[in-house]
Amino acid sequence: MKRRKFIGLAGAGAGVTLFGGASVLITACSGCGKDDMMNMGGVAPEVLEGPFDLALPVPPSIPANGAVLTAQHTTADIFTGKTSNALGYQSGSMLGPTLVAETGGTANIVFQNDLAEPSNIHWHGLLAPADMDGHPSDLAQAGGALNYAFPVVNRAGTYWYHPHPDMKTARQTYEGLAGFFIVNDAEEQGLGLPSGEYEIPLVIQDKRADTVGDFSYSAGMTDQMNGLLGESILVNGVHAPFADVETRQYRLRLLNGSNGRIYNLALSNGTPLTLLGTDGGLLAAPETTTSILLSPGERADLLVNFAGLSGGTEIFLESKIFSGSDYQGKQSFKILKFKVNTGQPDGFTLPPVLSNYQPIAESQPTRNRSFDISNGGGHGGHGGGAAMHNINGKSYNESRIDETITAGTTEIWTFDNTEGIDPHPMHLHGALFQVLGRTGGRNEVFPHEKGWKDTVLAMPGEKVRVIVPFGQNKGVYVFHCHNLEHEDSGMMLQMEIV
Ligand code: C2O
Ligand code: CU
Ligand code: CU
Repeated sequence: MKRRKFIGLAGAGAGVTLFGGASVLITACSGCGKDDMMNMGGVAPEVLEGPFDLALPVPPSIPANGAVLTAQHTTADIFTGKTSNALGYQSGSMLGPTLVAETGGTANIVFQNDLAEPSNIHWHGLLAPADMDGHPSDLAQAGGALNYAFPVVNRAGTYWYHPHPDMKTARQTYEGLAGFFIVNDAEEQGLGLPSGEYEIPLVIQDKRADTVGDFSYSAGMTDQMNGLLGESILVNGVHAPFADVETRQYRLRLLNGSNGRIYNLALSNGTPLTLLGTDGGLLAAPETTTSILLSPGERADLLVNFAGLSGGTEIFLESKIFSGSDYQGKQSFKILKFKVNTGQPDGFTLPPVLSNYQPIAESQPTRNRSFDISNGGGHGGHGGGAAMHNINGKSYNESRIDETITAGTTEIWTFDNTEGIDPHPMHLHGALFQVLGRTGGRNEVFPHEKGWKDTVLAMPGEKVRVIVPFGQNKGVYVFHCHNLEHEDSGMMLQMEIV
């Protein structure tokens, strides 16, 4: 297959694409080194806080069994007083409905592609058979359709879906294609967590919008290096929204659905966050933390208590400054406003034990693999024909299997960003994992990295070890950096489970 040989650096204006148009192509530069890349990286665009005058929408929930998702161009009310062009899985808004399934149930989803180019859907975090996983080369052509049918075997958790066509994932996701996929099970239902209108999924995304509110994808050189970061923060497809809440407890299911932006999430009144679950469902026991550094692809399931506040109080979900990245984390900004209204007490007490989560013994693995995600060490990663971002010096090639794994075995994988200068949220398809440890950099495992995970952040200087039990689904899956500009520029490899 004809793949681009490299994506390198070019002069100003490189890599501009039209809305729904061709892929990003950037010509190479000769002699760019790591220092050049660092200097050219700059600082992320400053977030412009919005007016917080639009109501937070909550996507409708529909059963995953029998769902129809139609990727299409549409218009959406995203910014105050403007109508934006966007992509959606229905008309009238960006994003898609929340798909809901029970553990042990079935997902049967018709995907209709009304875009003018190929697309597909990947079920992020769900253990789908390889041919149902939305592999980058399993595509519905423009005007075509695909039927995704698979048993839902995951435990209860906050999963999600988005397109995954090779080199088009970043643009299609950015322009509006994504949705939640929530799995419920009996264990979780037994806890009686806040539900219905008191359970709110929140997908946080940043856009770079023009004056009329359009945010057509245009990734220049800096964006290709760092990920495309925008000035406007959207929640559930609306810029700077507000949510009316009552003086009681809420379950908030947070997803960082951004291409490249990392958020250090906290509440503006300083209330600690009660963490219930992470990517792959509930923790063994609740954790308390002041902030959560959520990288693209990661989820955090929170219990937030507005009881005891007086009616009329306003509290913000915000992102605090953080260190570790030269490019982002320099600014704190508000994301979502909660307007507290006096309501009835909920009578809910959080149980001390949430789920039967078992850590996997480190003695179990049959194999260790290490992945260098530093992107070429001193070579800047792009000089010798390799992609700007790579894994073990290799960029994605659909006709090459990079790792072969025996079904049903457990492995330890190390993501080594020791020499790197960029944060990389590393994500596996086809398996969930547990984080064993982090050395270098922040040097610890954080509460939101406990439990079952499918995406974990390796900051520059860090080595992150995860333990991965592979299941019985055989076939070819990808694993990649979930900074979608990194992923599309080649920071993705293939594994075959045999
Ligand atoms: Cu959200 Cu390949 O993943
Ligand atoms: Cu995935
Ligand atoms: Cu990356």
